[in-house]
Amino acid sequence: MSPLSCLLICSIFLHDALASIHLQNPRGSGNRLDEPNRERRNRRRLFDSQANDRQGYNVGNLYYYQGSKLQVEWTNQHSCGGDNANCEIILQYMCSNNVRDGAILTTIPDVPSRCENGNCDTDIKFGMHEDFESYKRCRLRSRNFGLFVGDIRMNRDGRARFTRQNTRGLRYGYECPEERDYYPYWHPTPWRDIAVLTNDVSRCDYYKAQSENVKGRGYCYIPLELLVAQDRRIRIPNNKADCDKFSFPANDPNGVKGVWKVAPSHGIAAPICQENQYSRDNHNGNGINGQTNTFNWTLPNIEEDNCIFRIRYNVTSNDFNGWETTSEQNADPLKRVDGAKVPLYKNLGFDSRCDASERGFLLKNDPEVKIFDGLDIGLKLAVDIRQAGRTFEDRSFRFEVRPRPAGIPADANIYNVNVRGKRGNIVQTYPSTEYDFVPADLHATPDDYTHLQWTGSNTNNNGNAGQGLRGTDRHNYVLLHEQIYPEGSGYTGPGVKVGHFGVNYPMNLTGTSLPLDMLEKLAYLKPAQLGGEMSELDDAGPYFDAGLMKAPGPGTYHYMCSRNNAFTNRDQKGRFIIHPTSPPAKRNLNSELEELLQILTSKS
Ligand SMILES: *[C@@H]1O[C@H](CO)[C@@H](O)[C@H](O)[C@H]1NC(C)=O
Ligand SMILES: *[C@@H]1O[C@H](CO)[C@@H](O)[C@H](O)[C@H]1NC(C)=O
Ligand SMILES: *[C@@H]1O[C@H](CO)[C@@H](O)[C@H](O)[C@H]1NC(C)=O
Repeated sequence: MSPLSCLLICSIFLHDALASIHLQNPRGSGNRLDEPNRERRNRRRLFDSQANDRQGYNVGNLYYYQGSKLQVEWTNQHSCGGDNANCEIILQYMCSNNVRDGAILTTIPDVPSRCENGNCDTDIKFGMHEDFESYKRCRLRSRNFGLFVGDIRMNRDGRARFTRQNTRGLRYGYECPEERDYYPYWHPTPWRDIAVLTNDVSRCDYYKAQSENVKGRGYCYIPLELLVAQDRRIRIPNNKADCDKFSFPANDPNGVKGVWKVAPSHGIAAPICQENQYSRDNHNGNGINGQTNTFNWTLPNIEEDNCIFRIRYNVTSNDFNGWETTSEQNADPLKRVDGAKVPLYKNLGFDSRCDASERGFLLKNDPEVKIFDGLDIGLKLAVDIRQAGRTFEDRSFRFEVRPRPAGIPADANIYNVNVRGKRGNIVQTYPSTEYDFVPADLHATPDDYTHLQWTGSNTNNNGNAGQGLRGTDRHNYVLLHEQIYPEGSGYTGPGVKVGHFGVNYPMNLTGTSLPLDMLEKLAYLKPAQLGGEMSELDDAGPYFDAGLMKAPGPGTYHYMCSRNNAFTNRDQKGRFIIHPTSPPAKRNLNSELEELLQILTSKS
């Protein structure tokens, strides 16, 4: 291998300290609550996103109907579905009656006496996703010593809160650091899998078979009261053999014993697994067709009151096989300077590790490599084993999944139409986005239902650009005027064409045959607000639910938000493309008669 191509391969390692994934719809919290500052105040409130503090939307809650379709949208910064990195995107949700966003910015305590009534699970001032017991077990559980940690000196404590990416064992809400970093995880979790999007679909069978949706997980049961009382005096074993031997106090025949149990699977279908969509490096933006990368999620039926959606983004370097690397390849603790024992030398074309080492080609922190024979000038690479495989994360706010209203058949399509983005211009909102409808182009039929609903905040940064009352998000839906300037038809849909793209004035509705009550409801956010100052929707609340509606008939309906559509600054437009319902297949009486005759003649 030529030295130059080696350099190119090595450069895949160059990572920013902070890359990220950002959930745009449903809005990702990034640990934010209701903060007026551009920087979030507490990055450790609920989960470890590993993103810059500008991340996240302010709190806002939605509900979705069972079986309705939700277009999930995200942006990721490093690269995915391309050649520069291996990548997995993992979509999950969890539900429980206690899941909540919280009312204050402080991270939930992990000591029950610091919570109301000595119970953190029910102290609603603190935001909570995973519960107290889940974190307590993680904090006291032995970590998986089979994991690859490279040349990192791991904390001697050796529990599951210490990982290659979280070497200090920092606590982020009640999230378990080891569970966060690894998937599929070997211990029971509250997370139900929706989908795994991967570069390598040959691994899909594995994901589907191992998902906790379909496969239970063993764990060592020790009563929670004992864990709380004894805390770090207890080390929960992470395997059956050690669990069977566990006793507290140790070796005491009358001590509390560990019991190896198998938690059942979640008992739902295996996740969808498919190839992920392309996104380029160094770009928190759209995918290949200029549209945000998406996943269409069909909402499940859920018993619990509240749910959270989670998206993780796992980037793995191509320099060695991250999936087959284990603690066997960790650096020798006495010779950490030699780096991890992965066969990097082979991958890079050296005869031996020794040869590679002489030239600096080691898997360790910031190695200095010599790429020319006999030329003694090293080039320092920005390698960090904590980042050679790295997971980022974002989560939604609490949402509900509700049964369909009476009279809406279980098999009728329901499409959620929401608004993403927050108040501000493109620079002020980054890495979130400016306002947009999601989906901006909705394809449906007159038999399908749409569920128009949005949530926003009254406490965005007061300095952020926008129309109406400072700091607030508001939206409505107003049909656009017909085409005026004769360029581009803008019309691709079936049926009548209503309004046009590119114009910024609403349609004249006098004398229209369109359903005026529906249009009025959507323009003035009825019945959310019937009076007050509504020219810029200021007196409407930061939430609107139009309920279920059907389109008046086939056609393409172009609409905008009258408040936020500021042409050269921000554009908030969308369209409903309503296709005719396909007519039921015509019966062919002749051929039916012929078949009947054949049956009759064959019987006689
Ligand atoms: C990320 O990829 C690594 C391999 O590089 C794997 O060990 C780990 O389980 C993955 N984590 C997640 C959350 O997908
Ligand atoms: C989501 O569904 C829409 C149709 O409703 C389709 O046009 C789009 O391609 C789907 N997206 C993905 C990523 O499958
Ligand atoms: C609005 O439509 C009505 C009925 O078609 C028409 O009489 C009126 O002139 C239109 N106004 C404008 C400004 O186009």
